[in-house]
Amino acid sequence: MRMYDCIQKKKHGEALRKEEIEFIVNGYTNGTIPDYQMSAFLMAVCFEGMSEEETLHLTMAMAHSGDMLTLSGIEKKTADKHSTGGVGDKTTLIVGPMVASLGVAVAKMSGRGLGHTGGTIDKLESFPGFRVDLAEAEFEKQVQELGIAVMGQTANLAPADKKIYALRDVTATVDQMALIASSIMSKKLAAGADTIVLDVKTGSGAFMKTLEDSIALAQEMVKLGNNAGRSTYAVVSDMNQPLGYAVGNILEVKEAIDALKGKAPADLMESCYVLAAQMLLGTGIVTDFEQGVAAAKQTIADGSALKKLAEMVEAQGGDPKYVYEPERFPVAAYAKEIYPQSEGYLASVQTEEIGMVSLVLGAGRETKESEIDMTAGLIMTAKIGDLLNPAEPMAVLYANDEKKLLDAEKRFQKAIQISKEPVQPLKHIYATVSGEGVVML
Ligand code: URA
Repeated sequence: MRMYDCIQKKKHGEALRKEEIEFIVNGYTNGTIPDYQMSAFLMAVCFEGMSEEETLHLTMAMAHSGDMLTLSGIEKKTADKHSTGGVGDKTTLIVGPMVASLGVAVAKMSGRGLGHTGGTIDKLESFPGFRVDLAEAEFEKQVQELGIAVMGQTANLAPADKKIYALRDVTATVDQMALIASSIMSKKLAAGADTIVLDVKTGSGAFMKTLEDSIALAQEMVKLGNNAGRSTYAVVSDMNQPLGYAVGNILEVKEAIDALKGKAPADLMESCYVLAAQMLLGTGIVTDFEQGVAAAKQTIADGSALKKLAEMVEAQGGDPKYVYEPERFPVAAYAKEIYPQSEGYLASVQTEEIGMVSLVLGAGRETKESEIDMTAGLIMTAKIGDLLNPAEPMAVLYANDEKKLLDAEKRFQKAIQISKEPVQPLKHIYATVSGEGVVML
């Protein structure tokens, strides 16, 4: 078999066979296929797409390129949740403890920030001492005993995806549906959970900008998961503005702690209740969706979800006092209030750009080697549809380098639009997707 012929075939829009896809994935992972041929292949996929069958073969080949966890030491039903990437998305920190306190075994491997999007692993490292590099046996033991563990992806989890993703990142081949679906699902399948709940973001801060594409991506991933024998569900949620108000590691952890006390903005609370209900339904803890939402709400009202987060932080070497006294977290040296340039309604937010504002303030990585400033980021005070008053700040930027604030302020102002006419608030959740189909909300 020759890589040249596989590229040629895809260039002409032909479907590749299972053996050809395995040859490509294995060859690229072990270094016998060079970057330039893989790049040409990925670009051909961007133009010609992949059939459902090809996408399944690609997913399975990448999943089996490294360890396949079985989580066999865990007696309860295991569940994993994954977001396709957003700005201000701290839901794992809230939903994980909620459902763990109701008896779901949350076995979650998370990633670091990528481009304009934040990562759960970086956020968890805001807790002094928190360890994200658990050994597999330790991970399973913690899930078995406590009901939840969140760790970074092990080096040998879907290594093919790791290598291919890094190449896609620099060859403008990230935003192709089959490539995204197979990348995410290969990792989820390798991580071993029985139930997988996907939070597919849609809008200006998401990889998929339109609702139609986001629903199609959700359907594709749900089908992949179900075909591989896992109960898979998706929620399609809004990313036309940051989720909640806070963007940046410690700022988001504090907002997550507020949410666990029931004191966070409505979009964040609603997203968490819906995701939690889907995880409870998928694992059979509840039998209908409304019951799941009610159970999730109860974990906030009775403090059990907050307690579960503190227990998880402690089990992974962090200091649980920060959960109960978040004022212990350090704060950035400089804060700058941003005022609306005119009176009117917040009409739109270029959310990807807001992610970049947070990144330039220090909360994200400019290069793979960059150190993150845990205290940097921003807090918005308005949502789309809110009336803005030029005398009141609509956001506060945080940084430890005063110069960064000036650039960030200019970018922030350019990223939002104000309208004289009233603007409708946005929905938080658009649809749920299961093997039975799409339910528009
Ligand atoms: N997240 C992933 O893990 N892979 C993608 O391709 C996109 C988002």
